[in-house]
Amino acid sequence: MANQEDIFKKVISHAKEYGFIFQSSEIYDGLSAVYDYGQNGAELKKNIREYWWQAMVQLNDNIVGIDAAIFMHPTTWKASGHVDAFNDPLIDNKDSKKRYRADVLVEDHVAKIEGKIDKEVAKASKRFGDTFDKEQFLKTNPRVLDYRTKANSILKRLGKSLENEDLADVKALIEELGIACPISGSKNWTDVKQFNLMFGTKLGATADSAMDLYLRPETAQGIFVNFLNVQKTGRMKIPFGIAQTGKAFRNEIVARQFIFRMREFEQMEMQYFIKPGTQKEWYDTWKEKRLGWHLSLGLGEEKYRFHNHEKLAHYADAAADIEFKFPFGFKELEGIHSRTDFDLGSHEKFSGKKLQYFDPEENKSYVPYVLETSIGLDRMFLAVFSSALQEEELDNNTTRTVLKIPAVLAPTKAAVLPLLKRDGLPEIAHNIVDELKWDYNVAYDEKDAVGRRYRRQDAVGTPFCITVDHQTLEDGTVTIRHRDTMEQQRVAQKALKDIISKEVDVRQWLQRI
Ligand code: GAP
Repeated sequence: MANQEDIFKKVISHAKEYGFIFQSSEIYDGLSAVYDYGQNGAELKKNIREYWWQAMVQLNDNIVGIDAAIFMHPTTWKASGHVDAFNDPLIDNKDSKKRYRADVLVEDHVAKIEGKIDKEVAKASKRFGDTFDKEQFLKTNPRVLDYRTKANSILKRLGKSLENEDLADVKALIEELGIACPISGSKNWTDVKQFNLMFGTKLGATADSAMDLYLRPETAQGIFVNFLNVQKTGRMKIPFGIAQTGKAFRNEIVARQFIFRMREFEQMEMQYFIKPGTQKEWYDTWKEKRLGWHLSLGLGEEKYRFHNHEKLAHYADAAADIEFKFPFGFKELEGIHSRTDFDLGSHEKFSGKKLQYFDPEENKSYVPYVLETSIGLDRMFLAVFSSALQEEELDNNTTRTVLKIPAVLAPTKAAVLPLLKRDGLPEIAHNIVDELKWDYNVAYDEKDAVGRRYRRQDAVGTPFCITVDHQTLEDGTVTIRHRDTMEQQRVAQKALKDIISKEVDVRQWLQRI
C-alpha cells in the first residue's frame, strides 16, 4: 500500500493534471502558498460553497447572508485584537535557515506518536481478525495508553506555555522532545518569537494622505461591524445568524501542505447572535449541526473527530475544531467558537457607537453573545478531493483512477459520448447535452475509444456517462454508466433527467443533516 506521502503527492499531481488546482503565476515559477483553481476546481469549489450556503442561509429562516468588503477601516483590527494578538510563535533553524511555527513542530511530533497508535491498531487488527475490538484495544493496550498519555501531556504543556506567552518553555519543549529540522536534521534552534500574520497595504494616491490598511485575516469582522445594519434592516430577532463567504489573507510562516495552509484563502463563516448565558447550549447545538453537515456528504464518519481547545483565542470562552483525516493525518477543518460579547463589545468601545440589541422579552438592551462556525473553503476542497481520489484494481488486472466526489459536488454531472463520430450519433449526443445543460454542467466527448473516455470522466469525478450507439437510432435508448460501480443500464433517453437528478439533487443530500 502506498504511504501517506505518496498518496498526498498523487493528490497534488492529479489536481494539476486534471484542471483542478494550479500553482499561482506558475510561468514565473509560482508564488509560495498561493494557488489558482482551474476549470474543474472552480466548479467543485463553487459547489462546496453553495452546499454550505444552502445549509446555512437557505434552510435557516433566521440566518441571512452578506458580502462585506475585504478592505476595512484599520481600527477594526485594533478592536478585534488582531493588531496586538494575531501572532504565530516562530523559530528558525540556524543551520538550514528555515523558519517554522514552533507549535506546528510540536504538533507534528505528536502526530507521529498518534501514527504509532494507528500502527498498533493495524497490527492487532491483523492478528485478531474478525474478533478484534478496536474500542477495547484502544482503552486497554498498555503501549497505546502510554503513547496517548505522552501525546496528551505534550499538547497540554504546549497549550499552557502558549497561553502564558512562555515562549522560552516552547523552545525548551522542542529541545526536550529532540525535534530536529526536517531539512538539515539539526537541533540548532533560535529562540521562539511572535510574528504578526496580517498583510499590510495602503489606500490612497499620495504618500501623505495614504492610509495604512490590512487585508482582512478573517471574514468575521465584516459581519460584526454590520451587526446593527442587518439586525435593523432585516428586523432580526435574537437568536439569529449572519453568514458570509469570502477571501481572507494571512502571512503564514509555515505555508505548506498544498491548499491546507495558504496565504490567500476563502472562509465560510457564520456568526450566531444569542442571549448572554445561552452560549453553552448554542455551542453544543452548532457543534452537532456542523458535524451533521459534514457527515451528510458521506466521506466516512471515521474521517472526523472533535478537538476541544486547551488554549483559547483572545475572544473565546470555548472552542473546538472539527478535524478531518487528511492524507497527512487528522488536522483542523472547521472551528466552532463561543466568542462571548468580545467583538461587539470591543467595536462599541473603539467606534463609540452602541452595538446592542433591544430584547422585547427581557425589556432591556444588551450586547449579544456570539457563536461562530468558521470553515476554510479550500480546506474543505482538500478534504473532499483527497478522500475522493482512489485507485481501484479491476477484474482484468488493470487499475482505474477515480474521483468519487459526492455527486452533488461533482464539477460535471454527466458526460455524453457518441460511440462513433458518424451515422448521426454526435447529433443525438448534442441534443442530449442541450436538454440536460439547463440543470447542471454536462460534457460532450467524442475523442478516443469509449473506454478511455470513461477513464477521463472517472478522473474528474463525473458521476454519469451516457453513451449513444446504433441502438439509440433504432429505439431511442442509451446506456448510462455509474461512476462508482461502473454498472451500465440501458434506459430511454427520456428517463435520463430523472435518473441523474435523483443522485445530484441537493435536496437528497441536505435532508441527511
Ligand atoms: N473567524 C475565526 C477564524 O478565522 P480560524 O480558526 O483562524 O478562525 C477558521 O480559521 C478556518 O479557516 C480554519 O478552520 C481553516 O479551515 C481555515 N483557515 C485558516 N487559516 C487558513 C489558511 N492559512 N489556509 C487555508 N485555510 C485556512
